[in-house]
Amino acid sequence: MKIVTVIGAGTMGNGIAHTFAQNGFTVKLVDVSEEALEKGMNTIFTNLERMQNKGSISVEDKMKTLSNIICYTDIEDGIVGADLVIEAATENLDLKLRIFRKLNEFCSHNTIFATNTSSISITQIAAVVAHPERVIGMHFMNPVPMMPLVEVIRGYNTSDEITEFIMNLSKKLGKTAVEVHDYPGFVANRILMPMINEAIETLYNKVAGVNEIDNVMKLGMAHPMGPLQLADFIGLDVCLSIMNVLYDGFKNPKYAPCPLLVNMVNAKKLGIKSGEGFYDYSESKKAEKVAKQFL
Ligand SMILES: NC(=O)c1ccc[n+]([C@@H]2O[C@H](COP(=O)([O-])OP(=O)(O)OC[C@H]3O[C@@H](n4cnc5c(N)ncnc54)[C@H](O)[C@@H]3O)[C@@H](O)[C@H]2O)c1
Repeated sequence: MKIVTVIGAGTMGNGIAHTFAQNGFTVKLVDVSEEALEKGMNTIFTNLERMQNKGSISVEDKMKTLSNIICYTDIEDGIVGADLVIEAATENLDLKLRIFRKLNEFCSHNTIFATNTSSISITQIAAVVAHPERVIGMHFMNPVPMMPLVEVIRGYNTSDEITEFIMNLSKKLGKTAVEVHDYPGFVANRILMPMINEAIETLYNKVAGVNEIDNVMKLGMAHPMGPLQLADFIGLDVCLSIMNVLYDGFKNPKYAPCPLLVNMVNAKKLGIKSGEGFYDYSESKKAEKVAKQFL
């Protein structure tokens, strides 16, 4: 395995590209616009600089990592020769199905298709390609270069061979892979997202303010960041999509997204990426401060 295509250069895509490139893979990074790619590459550059300043990588490591990444706005060019494609585009079922139909049309039969989806069914995505046994969930955590877990999700038809391959590949990236089955939210978000949604309900019900809720969970439960700050970090649109998948998938009212979360997404208050969520990140330094807690 030499060439890995990453589709989407956003929060997760640029982290996945960074991680593979730092481990010596050739990475083809695809997004819809030059602007999105530039933003993603700037993030990779900044994160590599920070690692270099901390002494965890050398200047040569930084330069080699950057030179391993090639950017594309045309998906058909970006997937040529790929041994593995990891889709990390926006959390939207129709969009992901469109991308996988394209992969099915233009990739070789030997290519492995992975998705970094937080919650959408791997089995449903795999149903639009000719070889569903080669489709798997490779759910990295944010920020990808630092977080040790990859949740590896077997779709209904994913083969043992592909699962074993992706488990081993995750280990080669220095990650710990955990194998799970394909049910809404898998394991990570089935547990995490209802907690975040409940924190938003607590705010909505005026039980306490943003800082108070986060402090209770940080200082009382030893969480490294509060649930509202974590929601800002993940992106409130992503949180809402995941709650909707849980709600639709289990048909259980306990997963109904909080009206405040819905309102904030409609108002484009998406967290760090839009400059405002539960906290204000309008001065770029504030967002950087949050990122520095992790890198
Ligand atoms: N944010 C998190 O903490 C997190 C964690 C784990 C998994 N995920 C999952 O990772 C995926 C990406 O999430 P994100 O937070 O990086 O989102 P994001 O909004 O930061 O980035 C999404 C990127 O996809 C690009 N995109 C949209 N349509 C595309 C297309 N047709 N071709 C190529 N690129 C396209 C967008 O331009 C954008 O740059 C989602 O499935 C999400 O559920 C997110």
